[in-house]
Amino acid sequence: MRILVLHAHPVAESYNGSLHRLIVERLTANGHKVDDCDLYAEGFDPRLTRDERLNYHDIGPNIEPVRVYVERLRAAEALVMSYPVWNFGYPAMLKGFFDRVFLPGVSFKMVDGKATPCLHNIRKVNVVTTYGGTRTRAFLVGDPPRKAVNRVLRVIVKPGAPFKYLAHYDMNRSTDTTRKRFIGRVEQAMDAF
Ligand SMILES: Cc1cc2nc3c(=O)[nH]c(=O)nc-3n(C[C@H](O)[C@H](O)[C@H](O)COP(=O)(O)O)c2cc1C
Repeated sequence: MRILVLHAHPVAESYNGSLHRLIVERLTANGHKVDDCDLYAEGFDPRLTRDERLNYHDIGPNIEPVRVYVERLRAAEALVMSYPVWNFGYPAMLKGFFDRVFLPGVSFKMVDGKATPCLHNIRKVNVVTTYGGTRTRAFLVGDPPRKAVNRVLRVIVKPGAPFKYLAHYDMNRSTDTTRKRFIGRVEQAMDAF
C-alpha cells in the first residue's frame, strides 16, 4: 500500500523517535511504499494564517499554501501516525496539520451547510502513541486523544476502514520491559499492515 506516515516529535532520539524509525523500517521492509512525513524535521508550519482562514471555503485555491501536503495526503491509501500525547491532545504540529491540510474539498465537502467527510482514499489507519499518565487517569477525563482518533478521524476516512490505536500509557513509570513490550506490539502491527 502507499502509506503516509505522519510523525510529530521534536527529538529524534526520543522513544517516539525510535517508534517512528521502527514504523518506517518495518513498513518499507514489508514492501509498502512509504511517504515518511516527519513534521518537525520538515519544518512544517502548523499555524493557519489569516489568508488561509479567509479562503478556507474557497475550494481549489484554498489548498495552495499547503498543496504539497494535500498531494501527499491524496496519494496515500493508508495512514500511520506516531506522536506523544500532549495536554490530552495531538502535539500542535499534528493538530496544525489537520487544521491546514484537512480542508474543505480535501477531507470533507460542505453539502447544504453540512460537513460531509470525503477522505475516502484512506482505507486503513494505525496510530502509535504514548501517554505520560496511566490509562485510568486518561479514562477519567474521557481519553480525548483516543476519541479524536477512533471517533473523529474514523468518520473522515473511508467508511469501514480498519483502525488500530496502539498506546503505551504510563510512560512516566515505564521500564525497559514495558517499552520493549510496546515496541513488539508496534512491530507486530506494522508487519500485519
Ligand atoms: C508538553 C507536554 C504535555 C504533556 N501532556 C500530557 C497529557 O496531557 N497527558 C499525559 O498522559 N501525558 C502528557 N505528557 C507526557 C507525554 O505524553 C510523555 O512525555 C511522552 O509520551 C513520552 O514520550 P517521549 O519520551 O517519546 O517524549 C506531556 C508531555 C509534554 C512534554
